[in-house]
Amino acid sequence: KEIHYFEEVTSTNSIAKEIAASEEEGTLVIAEVQKGGRGRLGREWISPHGGIWMSVILKPGIPLRHASRLTLVAGLAVANVIRNMDLDARIKWPNDVRINGKKVCGILTEAKAEVDKVDYVVLGIGINVNMDLKDIPESFRAGSTTLKAELGRHIKRVSFLQDFLFELEQQYILFKTQPFSHILNDWLALSDTIGREVKVTTPSRIIEGKAVGVTPDGALVIKKADDTKEEIIAGRCIYAR
Ligand code: BTN
Repeated sequence: KEIHYFEEVTSTNSIAKEIAASEEEGTLVIAEVQKGGRGRLGREWISPHGGIWMSVILKPGIPLRHASRLTLVAGLAVANVIRNMDLDARIKWPNDVRINGKKVCGILTEAKAEVDKVDYVVLGIGINVNMDLKDIPESFRAGSTTLKAELGRHIKRVSFLQDFLFELEQQYILFKTQPFSHILNDWLALSDTIGREVKVTTPSRIIEGKAVGVTPDGALVIKKADDTKEEIIAGRCIYAR
């Protein structure tokens, strides 16, 4: 598999999307620094030296509506690898991996589809590894942490990356060969969202209630005060208490 390594890019996801059509599944785009790193919901993703900023090109041949499942697969893989370092990584729906309530990883999944079948999926993964939190502007720093800050020591990024790619491949194989409920159960076991009072903001409205589950397509199920349930496929989730 090819690895495209760059010192500096705008966004590894943007590069991955440009080359995806002609590249094999499993191709990796990785950079030391991103100048135009993108987060979910149009947000900026600050990507200084010391982190892992990468995108993986996948060609799973699934319907577009299942593409968001891969976000859960990637989140599970990141959380598993961090847990193997004896840190209590948890997943906040849909894609934040957190340690002690602070975000250490974000995932941005982008897919291109013809009719309903995906041509490719780009899994963009940003992991705060060794960078200094002071390299992150104050407004982004709140609620973030790094592996180095949590472990109190420098992490070898190359070996972390090897472990992560191995785990991602394992989870991807399970994704392709087993019912999705298996991955969903593993994801649920590591998620700290279910059972919480949440407030989810979408471009059109705000939904408040108790997070009671996740659908097989990765939508969050919220039980509202009037006891009706609602499924939200994308949005910003805040824990109310
Ligand atoms: C989020 O939590 O909002 C998602 C953040 C995703 C960041 C990664 S870093 C590598 C890849 N390239 C980007 O521009 N974004 C993703």
